[in-house]
Amino acid sequence: MAMPVYVFDAYGTLFDVHAAVARHSDEIGPQAARLSELWRMKQLEYTWVRSLAEAPYIDFRELTAQALDTAAALTTGPLASELRAQLLGAYDRLDAYADARPALEALKAKGAKLAILSNGSPDMLASAIGAAGFDGLFDAVLSVGARKIFKTAPSVYTLATERFDAPPGAISFQSSNRWDVGAASLAGFRAVWINRGGLPDEYPDMAPALVLRGLDELPRLPD
Ligand code: LAC
Repeated sequence: MAMPVYVFDAYGTLFDVHAAVARHSDEIGPQAARLSELWRMKQLEYTWVRSLAEAPYIDFRELTAQALDTAAALTTGPLASELRAQLLGAYDRLDAYADARPALEALKAKGAKLAILSNGSPDMLASAIGAAGFDGLFDAVLSVGARKIFKTAPSVYTLATERFDAPPGAISFQSSNRWDVGAASLAGFRAVWINRGGLPDEYPDMAPALVLRGLDELPRLPD
């Protein structure tokens, strides 16, 4: 039997995107949480707008920096250059969610193939994986950079089916981003929504196969 394949989204699913601002919240002040929310929303907006417009490809590292500047302009005002550099540096070393490592190790121990499929540029993903101590866990780290377009372009999701030479229905795709789950479901994957925050469901015609409250709830593989 073919080894089961588990593909994980990175930002928001394995790594906490709000960890960067959280580390510097005292310096940022009362607008810190709003800044972090807007940073994430603008970062994603830029990926969607550029992909739909077929704009020239700019990688996720650059879009993340652009999004931080916009989020700051909308909240605190422009960031001091040192704080800006610290936040972008922290984004390269985000905290992994506590449930990530045990879930990944349990799957790997049962012989599953593990991969990341992310908007992140290869260098960002390598930094995040290294900072979390996840080196050696993944069989593949797939970046949209190979397609020069972002999620939810269908061509991005085929990076996983091509890498593992498997049909999408044989691949379990985990994401905390409901829009990402929707696109993976539409593409035929077994799409698992990791809904840690208990958020309301969306995209009713692009439904997950499974909704879990954390990666620790992933069904155990048989021995
Ligand atoms: C990623 C985005 C969804 O990691 O955060 O692909």
